[in-house]
Amino acid sequence: MRTRYLKVDPANPDGGPIAIAAGILRRGGLVAFPTETVYGLGANAVDPLAVGRIYQAKGRPSDNPLIVHVAEIEQVYPLVQDVPERAVILIAKFWPGPLTLVLERSSLVADVVTGGLDTVAIRMPAHPVALALLRASRVPVAAPSANLSGRPSPTTAQHVLLDLEGRIEAVLDGGPARVGVESTVLDLVSGIPTILRPGSITREQLEEVLGEVQEAYPVSGVQRLEKAPRAPGMKYAHYAPRGELYLVSGPLDKVVPRIAGLVNEWRCLGKRVGVLASDETLMEYQGFATQPDLLISLGSRRDLGGIASRLFGALRDCDRAEMEVILAETYPDQGMGTAVMNRLRKAAAGREMGD
Ligand code: TXA
Ligand code: MG
Repeated sequence: MRTRYLKVDPANPDGGPIAIAAGILRRGGLVAFPTETVYGLGANAVDPLAVGRIYQAKGRPSDNPLIVHVAEIEQVYPLVQDVPERAVILIAKFWPGPLTLVLERSSLVADVVTGGLDTVAIRMPAHPVALALLRASRVPVAAPSANLSGRPSPTTAQHVLLDLEGRIEAVLDGGPARVGVESTVLDLVSGIPTILRPGSITREQLEEVLGEVQEAYPVSGVQRLEKAPRAPGMKYAHYAPRGELYLVSGPLDKVVPRIAGLVNEWRCLGKRVGVLASDETLMEYQGFATQPDLLISLGSRRDLGGIASRLFGALRDCDRAEMEVILAETYPDQGMGTAVMNRLRKAAAGREMGD
């Protein structure tokens, strides 16, 4: 299949490309489109065959449920049993935006969307191109991130094409995604509202509206490593670059020399080594005798939103430069830093060193 590349001006989205993409969705095809978080891979959410093709194109396990995207609040009601009061409040405050709500589903939502769960995840994206597409298609759109399963989520149309060219009908290019990490997923079904995936709508912001909020994303399989392991294992990870990612945590004045030491060790073993630094530390790495093969700053530590927006692109840059080992600094685990650390830890599959 040839994947159509459709460029759209986010400032003025309506027009030919949106009409073409909406037609593809209505006929059961797959269209990748920009949202404010990451690019999504959309299919008509009320067409089970179309939704099934998403799993095929991504190579995604079919028990991992999808988020349904809507452009109007009225589209939510037919998809759910009811909209509880706290959902109404959250919708008024955070939609359109990077907050996904898990609610009890109606019979209109097929098993293929929810992985057989009796709940459904719904969000209204805050991107003019996404909203134009959703309005023109006039159907709710199921969309996971538009990457091959296990790869870093795409923040540009080029990332989408690298993973999915030839596997989907079209990609709408609306420029780079602003937020860079996927939406906050909040479960409103089981008692206390529970964050299932941290995102740029933070726990603190949700607590201001809801009172008590809990988190349920245990960092499983963390292995504390003291030395560079000689035979790195555990290949499969979420958001993973092809190289093996290691996180090095602790005070920065210890982290920088430690990373520099690891660069030296691994380069001596003949590995190609990349470092994910920050603006505050970038110059320091340049002062050591052994330089990494690739040195990238994710941005200033004072702007964790900026760090988040560059993270997935940087992981893909490491792949393009064929880094075999990637060493990353860590960030404070609060506010936006929680989403950044969640993605870094998943991508590192628990490989973390430091205190
Ligand atoms: O920002 C985003 O949310 C992006 C853009 C495209 O909207 N989408 C996205 O979709 O990240 P995906 O499929 O990559 O991640 C969906 C997440 C998964 O962690 C999934 O397990 C969870 O939402 N999820 C979906 N439906 C759920 C449900 N009914 N109950 C619990 N978790 C659910
Ligand atoms: Mg994803």
